[in-house]
Amino acid sequence: MDLGIKNKVAVVFAASKGLGKAAALALANEGCRVAICSRDSENLKKAESAITQATAAQTFTQVVDVSDKDQITEFINNVAAKWGSVDILVNNAGGPPVASFEQSKDDEWLKWYEITFMSVVRAVKASIPYMKKNKWGRIINITSSSVKSPVENLIYSNSIRMAVVGLAKSLSIELGPYGINVHNVAPGYHMTDGLERIIIKKVEAGQKREDVLKAWTDNIPVRRIGEPQDLAAMITFLASDLAGYLTGTTIPVEGGNYRGVI
Ligand SMILES: NC(=O)c1ccc[n+]([C@@H]2O[C@H](COP(=O)([O-])OP(=O)(O)OC[C@H]3O[C@@H](n4cnc5c(N)ncnc54)[C@H](OP(=O)(O)O)[C@@H]3O)[C@@H](O)[C@H]2O)c1
Repeated sequence: MDLGIKNKVAVVFAASKGLGKAAALALANEGCRVAICSRDSENLKKAESAITQATAAQTFTQVVDVSDKDQITEFINNVAAKWGSVDILVNNAGGPPVASFEQSKDDEWLKWYEITFMSVVRAVKASIPYMKKNKWGRIINITSSSVKSPVENLIYSNSIRMAVVGLAKSLSIELGPYGINVHNVAPGYHMTDGLERIIIKKVEAGQKREDVLKAWTDNIPVRRIGEPQDLAAMITFLASDLAGYLTGTTIPVEGGNYRGVI
């Protein structure tokens, strides 16, 4: 199936590993030129070489910390200067740490607000002039299944990601007339270093790794933990030309784990 995005310029934030890297690889597979960033240049080099070994895609990398406004803006502008546009923007960042409300701290709330929410605001602000010029754009935010159903002891994620959802729906209304469609994807458990860190916390608290995985898997209707490419497939479809009549959605990708009817 031709997704109609060959040669589009895709920017994926926080993409040296895990879900971001899988999204970049999937978009590269569809013929997009892909720009990826993260904080660590060695991680980025490895991700770039994985993409260029697996696909014929052109790539661009830059060290960016998504907590820094100037670095975000500079990255987007550098991509546009190199390739002439920014067509597809995938917003992603490292996940907030495990904490209950009573363990939460003012400075951590502000830190994760910057990383989880303001990074999206800043990347969108920097990208929309380029998308508007082409009357075509796709913005996809990687959030979490916590926006459908709060996850125990993830108070920062449960709270701050809701602002991303509200932002995306508002943006879909504001930007729809310019051919720019906006979505959130809401991943459940996907096997990445990020998920591994949560498993390690549980093991340190006395649980067995296999018991943790079994408890999660038994509750997922499709009976498996996701792979990063499961989420990447949804992102790629939303980024495609085929998804032109779809905007403002928040799509759970979690094997049916959420039990709500709508
Ligand atoms: N995996 C899951 O099951 C799952 C489920 C729900 C939600 N999520 C959310 O999805 C997002 C990605 O998760 P993941 O599992 O793929 O995480 P991961 O395996 O830890 O990968 C995170 C990626 O983000 C980069 N990164 C982290 N902090 C950054 C920053 N401040 N600036 C720029 N890049 C940064 C990391 O690279 P560097 O270290 O090189 O910077 C790495 O490439 C997180 O927000 C997570 O909470 C994940």
